[in-house]
Amino acid sequence: MEVIVTPTPESAASAAAQAVLSGLPAGAGPVLGLATGSSPLGLYAELAAAAAAGRVDFSTAKGFALDEYVGLPAGHVQSYREVLIREVCEVIGLPMAGLNVPDGSGATQAELEAGAAAYDAAIAAAGGVDVQILGIGANGHVGFNEPGSSLSSRTRLKRLTARTRLDNARFFEHDGDVPTHCITQGLGTVLEARRLVLIATGAAKAAAVAAAVEGPLTASCPGSILQWHADAVVVLDEAAASGLANREYYDDAARGLALAP
Ligand code: GLP
Repeated sequence: MEVIVTPTPESAASAAAQAVLSGLPAGAGPVLGLATGSSPLGLYAELAAAAAAGRVDFSTAKGFALDEYVGLPAGHVQSYREVLIREVCEVIGLPMAGLNVPDGSGATQAELEAGAAAYDAAIAAAGGVDVQILGIGANGHVGFNEPGSSLSSRTRLKRLTARTRLDNARFFEHDGDVPTHCITQGLGTVLEARRLVLIATGAAKAAAVAAAVEGPLTASCPGSILQWHADAVVVLDEAAASGLANREYYDDAARGLALAP
């Protein structure tokens, strides 16, 4: 795991974008794993700048969302499909036809579970995710994998915690409008991406970041799966890094592997 600490949220976005770009294969058809939330917005702006400068082309890219609410009507402004169209497709130039989002429209548990299994199959059919972009919740959650989620879980139907519904109520007119269920990529699904890039900024994420980076690998902190991945990059601003014990080593390691001192 590579831990990169930069001074500000802006410099973190820039460093995270570099980690994404260097993980994409040369040529057509990169496959991005997409996170919603405020954490990656600066990173998406940096990817847009790189595309505008001709350093990358997302016009043939595919994107796979981490998660989706269950039961919102098609086109609902807060559905993650609509959020990703606004915050990613229209920003970085990824075509809507290349955007894949778990299907939260099933009317029955069986339909939703079938859709979740089909989503994992679609990721595999696309050749897997090249780079998965991740945020982290204050309780360590990744996607909608709350503490206690199996480390080998697949994309599946989950009930949202009361805490997460309350956190996300700000996006809806009434608290009761927040869906009770979601479909989320599983932690096992996320681990199959060839590179993971997690971005976190701000003091409110410091405890979750410390647990994910330096705590035990445990379902109690879903973000700790990054420790199990062979190519994981964690990009932080100073505030999000403030709970790390091994900070000095991360700064040393950031000087690279050249043998000269
Ligand atoms: C939601 C999303 C996660 C996201 C998290 C943190 O629960 N499902 O993918 O990482 O919120 O959001 P933010 O980046 O806004 O703090």
